[in-house]
Amino acid sequence: MTDTVASSDAAPPTQAEITAEISALAREGAGSGAAGQQPRLDYPPYRSSLLRHPTQGFHSVNPEGIDLWAPVFGDRDVDPLEADLTVQHRGEPIGERAVVTGRLLDGDGRPVRHQLVEIWQANASGRYLHQRDQHPAAIDPNFTGVGRCLTDADGWYSFTTIKPGPYPWRNHRNAWRPAHIHFSIFGRELTQRLVTQMYFPGDPLFELDPIYQAITDPVARERLVARYDHDVTQPEWATGYRWDIVLAGGHRTPTEGDGA
Ligand SMILES: [Fe+2]
Repeated sequence: MTDTVASSDAAPPTQAEITAEISALAREGAGSGAAGQQPRLDYPPYRSSLLRHPTQGFHSVNPEGIDLWAPVFGDRDVDPLEADLTVQHRGEPIGERAVVTGRLLDGDGRPVRHQLVEIWQANASGRYLHQRDQHPAAIDPNFTGVGRCLTDADGWYSFTTIKPGPYPWRNHRNAWRPAHIHFSIFGRELTQRLVTQMYFPGDPLFELDPIYQAITDPVARERLVARYDHDVTQPEWATGYRWDIVLAGGHRTPTEGDGA
């Protein structure tokens, strides 16, 4: 589940070159209009997006047909303990324990109830427990980095986790992702699934990251940044972050895979 990159024999661009490309696109007004409020699928500073973004219209699928082979879930399968990523092993994971909570809302601010919210993330050192992540940071034997829960009757989700570290990737030389948690909202069936990333406030890597910057409207991309909330912080236990997910309307949360 790490971010992928296309292979190339050419020397990789530097961060300065990527940053210049990001700035040039911003100056050209790439962020103006509704298109800038969702991730650009062909955003040149994010190199692999050029090769693997859709170039043709989407196919319509028969929702009943796709149910025969797509993943499904039943609410009885979700154990409340799955929302606590710090209790999945015998010992305590290393890092800043954090509560991440918020509401899932529709475009009119109404709660979206009993929805499956799934997350996956790197550990405190920025390492995924994944075969494709081989960079030399420590694996935490007490942290897998996946969790899920259902929203409650008021649309609230809540996870207890470890704040992930930033990690390197191979988009360009010395490329680092800001710390983030991947979120999936399942919907009623797989064809409605939405995927996005939540970031932590004040990250110095925002300006440098072509994935974050692929949402070219600065106001829209800030919707992906949680805010520190001292009312969520728990004494002697965990820091607290609040992040709402809005599915439609003018304040919609940017999501991957359906942008302009
Ligand atoms: Fe990631």
